[in-house]
Amino acid sequence: MSHTHDIQQISKVDDSFSLKELNLMLKKKNKSIPTKFLYDDLGSKLFEEISNTKEYYLTRTEKKILNKYSSKIINESGARELLELGSGSSKKTKLLILEALKVENNITYVSFDISEKALKMSYEELKNISSNLNIKLVKGDFINDLEKLDHTDKPRLYLFLGSTLGNFNNETAIKFLSNISKKMKKNDFLLLGVDKIKNKEIIKAAYNDQAGITEKFNKNILNVINKEYDLNFNPKMFRHVAEFNEDKNQIEMYLKAISDQKINSHIENIKINLGEKILTEISRKFSDSSIDEIFQNSGLETVHDFKDERNYYSLYLLKSS
Ligand code: SAH
Ligand code: TRP
Repeated sequence: MSHTHDIQQISKVDDSFSLKELNLMLKKKNKSIPTKFLYDDLGSKLFEEISNTKEYYLTRTEKKILNKYSSKIINESGARELLELGSGSSKKTKLLILEALKVENNITYVSFDISEKALKMSYEELKNISSNLNIKLVKGDFINDLEKLDHTDKPRLYLFLGSTLGNFNNETAIKFLSNISKKMKKNDFLLLGVDKIKNKEIIKAAYNDQAGITEKFNKNILNVINKEYDLNFNPKMFRHVAEFNEDKNQIEMYLKAISDQKINSHIENIKINLGEKILTEISRKFSDSSIDEIFQNSGLETVHDFKDERNYYSLYLLKSS
């Protein structure tokens, strides 16, 4: 078996952000916490649970599109290596891997994630598929570490699924996609999952599930930074808020303080007043034209736009233009 359970760590992920920066972000009028702190072990597990809630249509819809078009995607891209950024559990990706193994008996899958838990889930999901599958686990930050990824001569299919692109603002989205586009060789493709604009009640419900899993996921970010930076946020003193901003076509997820609070920090104590909101994540929803504009500004060209029948979601097969 060529399987390896080793995790290659390509950066000192944990050093890329300092308590000083966090203090500054929490002192501003518009407070925020970097999204990546949502994904510790528990966060990664909770995200998996979110994707199974009845309200969260994204995962289910993307999976449906993959079920229908995986074979076409593999044939069209000629992929021999699949490299997934922010892979999570790789459950959906399995569909593509199985298709790739049908046409070629030596496939490499690289799972790249900031969360070790995600990498382990991914390995568990794939380890018994086939001895023709070579699995590589890489821990790193997809914003800062892309240039450190290994090169390959094989046709590579980059994967960025789950509408994770929607979690970036416009500037970051273009920078991120431009970086990938520059890395792409002539035979490489990118498969990108994008959530589309639709009835806003459907969107809002996806981020406010009845079982309260998204609420747990959101509040867990405070436990993560408490541990990481020796702070004493009390998650019980915050309410989960996920609103749809209609001007920006994005979900904004906040933690809203239900009392005045003082948090101890080694740099300077943090004050948060009753009713103040801390932004923890955005999730943008795109139209055909708003995502097209991003592709154009990132040096990418659409080869295919695979959609579900309700037009909830798009899977774009792209190449470098
Ligand atoms: N692609 C999966 C998971 C999406 S959730 C799916 O479609 O279901 C987002 C994933 O990105 C998580 O696994 C999270 O751990 C990872 N992630 C978040 N920020 C990251 C960063 N800065 N660098 C690398 N991975 C990151
Ligand atoms: N990429 C996912 C999305 O935008 C991440 C996510 C899942 C998420 N659940 C969330 C983001 C809840 C914010 C709030 O849907």
